[in-house]
Amino acid sequence: MTIGKREKIVDLFKGDKIGKEVSVKGWVRTRRGNKNIAFIALNDGSTIHNIQLVADVEVFGEEFLKDVSTGASIGAKGNLVESSGAEQPVEIQVRHIEIYGKADPSVYPLQKKGHSLEFLREIAHLRPRTNTFGAVLRIRHAMAYAIHKYFNDKGFYYIHTPIITGSDAEGAGALFKVTTLDINNPPRLQNGKVDFSQDFFGKEAKLTVSGQLEGELAALALSEIYTFGPTFRAENSNTPRHLAEFWMIEPEMAFYEISDNMDLAEDFLKYLTRYALEHCKEDLEFLNKMWDKELIERLKFVTENSFVRLSYTEAIAILEKADMKWEFPVSWGVDLQSEHERYLVEKHFKKPVILTDYPKEIKAFYMKLNDDNKTVRAMDVLFPKIGEIIGGSQREENLETLARRMVEMGIPQEEMWWYVETRKFGTAPHSGFGLGFERLLLFVTGMSNIRDVIPFPRTPKNCEF
Ligand code: 4AD
Ligand code: MG
Repeated sequence: MTIGKREKIVDLFKGDKIGKEVSVKGWVRTRRGNKNIAFIALNDGSTIHNIQLVADVEVFGEEFLKDVSTGASIGAKGNLVESSGAEQPVEIQVRHIEIYGKADPSVYPLQKKGHSLEFLREIAHLRPRTNTFGAVLRIRHAMAYAIHKYFNDKGFYYIHTPIITGSDAEGAGALFKVTTLDINNPPRLQNGKVDFSQDFFGKEAKLTVSGQLEGELAALALSEIYTFGPTFRAENSNTPRHLAEFWMIEPEMAFYEISDNMDLAEDFLKYLTRYALEHCKEDLEFLNKMWDKELIERLKFVTENSFVRLSYTEAIAILEKADMKWEFPVSWGVDLQSEHERYLVEKHFKKPVILTDYPKEIKAFYMKLNDDNKTVRAMDVLFPKIGEIIGGSQREENLETLARRMVEMGIPQEEMWWYVETRKFGTAPHSGFGLGFERLLLFVTGMSNIRDVIPFPRTPKNCEF
């Protein structure tokens, strides 16, 4: 007898298969029991819940059941019945078990419950088999789907922007280089500099920090677009909120002013939060119980309350008056740090905050200059526990102003000729923003380290798996 086609465990909890013969396949979480009967908790990733398999020890033999140990992959077939135990609504009275892969208990690392998140990072190849990472990965999937659904329903087009690029979109210089030259012995020009004309692309190439600039080109034709792809930053930021490789969602909209941009950002974040509450209920309940007792409450709060909107200048005034010992002192002109952002959100307003009109010196060259000639039409959305979750702006659509800003900020115009040309031909007001996918997931899952919401984190000095 073979096991045959498997049912997903999630479907067995729906109740309509009770009394029928079913087959399941998955990985053993625990086996317990006594001389007569074995209880096997099986999980196949389709739900946080395990299905209980009840096996007669005499039928299978003690030796055989020894290999049905934590971590082993098995298939089982038997009758689905209502369970007498309080822990689970249904269980399978198994008649047949097939072992696909054993997991030697003396070396399988996921034996006991309650491994630390730090330890699990070291075994990222196995951590999807834990309850926590199962939940995180299912929520990650649900959020990716909801993002595409949101924009598709609104008539936005998904644009694929390049991952290898010749430009530094943020002008921040934190770029990974892409080359096929022999780094030990690259061809050199007379002045000693590397001769990139002999490199693969005939010029210097990098991994992109943002799809925005190419997204703008598409928005100035299709009106409303978004990107959703990997982005790379070679900044040496060892924090719970920074990755060297992260995913970003960047909508870009023609004919949007900054206020339209803020409306979209707020609506988008509320939609995604609501989607998680509706579609990831059991996983959220688990994470709420395990890691963050206020998680679900916080998610509901965000969907039900308007975000506060105020200017950078107003925020600085609040921070200067605050009775706090800042690690980074505050005055007009400084870039806000996480401690300042979280004070505004968690202590002062107790609500998500959208800050606008930052000093031009601390923001990117492409942001629209205000009439005061001092601030730009930037907007950062600040969230509880996270700080900055979205960064965006209205874009400078005026050719002369953009050109001047590029000179001021040392952005090479020759290299960016294509970007500048959109301001020469049919320029239009437009705006957009970037949502860090893993920052969103930090918020939605309640996890506190960004390394725990991406399957294989890339951070300084860490590129395992
Ligand atoms: O504020 P940033 O740098 O903005 C941009 O890249 C713009 N091009 C976006 C746009 O207007 N289209 O990044 C946007 C967001 C941040 O708010 C944050 O959520 C996330 O990306 N982010 C990171 N997430 C994880 N690790 C990092 N190192 C991140 N840097 C930015
Ligand atoms: Mg930013």
